[in-house]
Amino acid sequence: MTDAIFDVVVVGSANLDLVANLEHLPLPGQTLIASGYAEYPGGKGVNQAVACARMGARTAFIGCVGGDDAGVLLRSVLEQEGIDTTHLRTVGVPTGRAFINVDSHGENAIVVVAGANAEVGSEDNFFIPNSRVVLAQLEVPLETIAMAFSQARNNGAVTVLNPAPARVIPQSLLQLVDIVVPNETESAELGGTKALFDLGVNTVVTTLGADGASIESASLITHIAPHTVTPVDTVGAGDAFIGATCAELSRGSSIEDAARMGAVAGALATTVKGAVPSLPTRQAVLAALRAAQ
Ligand code: RIB
Repeated sequence: MTDAIFDVVVVGSANLDLVANLEHLPLPGQTLIASGYAEYPGGKGVNQAVACARMGARTAFIGCVGGDDAGVLLRSVLEQEGIDTTHLRTVGVPTGRAFINVDSHGENAIVVVAGANAEVGSEDNFFIPNSRVVLAQLEVPLETIAMAFSQARNNGAVTVLNPAPARVIPQSLLQLVDIVVPNETESAELGGTKALFDLGVNTVVTTLGADGASIESASLITHIAPHTVTPVDTVGAGDAFIGATCAELSRGSSIEDAARMGAVAGALATTVKGAVPSLPTRQAVLAALRAAQ
């Protein structure tokens, strides 16, 4: 890697999260009255970029917002976190929205309307700046992620894919991925770890919710113990895990040490409502780790 300008470049989505709090998640055909409602900045891309920045990584965000109030809010959130927005484009499509229901145990169900996120990578001069890690999720076009990872590989960066929301991923894209970070549902939808290895992935880090995480590669199979908390809202917990893990990897940590920090960050994120507001700083993660020893 020559002259990395950034520790982590995140190619991803920016959404306004419209969050309803409910006793339980609605059944098909059911109408429920919410006990609370709030709007938060979110989107897996924005969340993971903010998680990286709060963990001390020099972070750039590559994405699209609309020329609306939500787009202005998301841009300012990224800038306030010190994240480089040179490649955040404002396009003529409304900013993405996520309709989120959160139940009384903190569990959630999410529907995303892509909006401007579908435009990420549509420009002629799509460019990934030099970084140690390039991180993407599946809320932007697959062709864009392939372009990003191909440039990242040429730059010598580690490529990390969070396959969320789960969808069919072409082998040509998986061959460009060093580390895949699914949750259990996403892993099952992708055919499990063995299928991912067969398709060319080196390392799979599976997040297991309250059970921590597992790491599998040719040379390592290990379990990362959970950090125990009382959750109020699990939205953004996976993003906190992934952002923290990538930030630590960019510092030169092993995948095991990085995921250990990720597990604590993910747990802490469940103790605060909303996605971006819940993402912990590195100081908070280290303090929680010390307190647990
Ligand atoms: O991972 C949580 C995120 O998923 C939310 O912020 C929402 O915007 C969706 O992208």
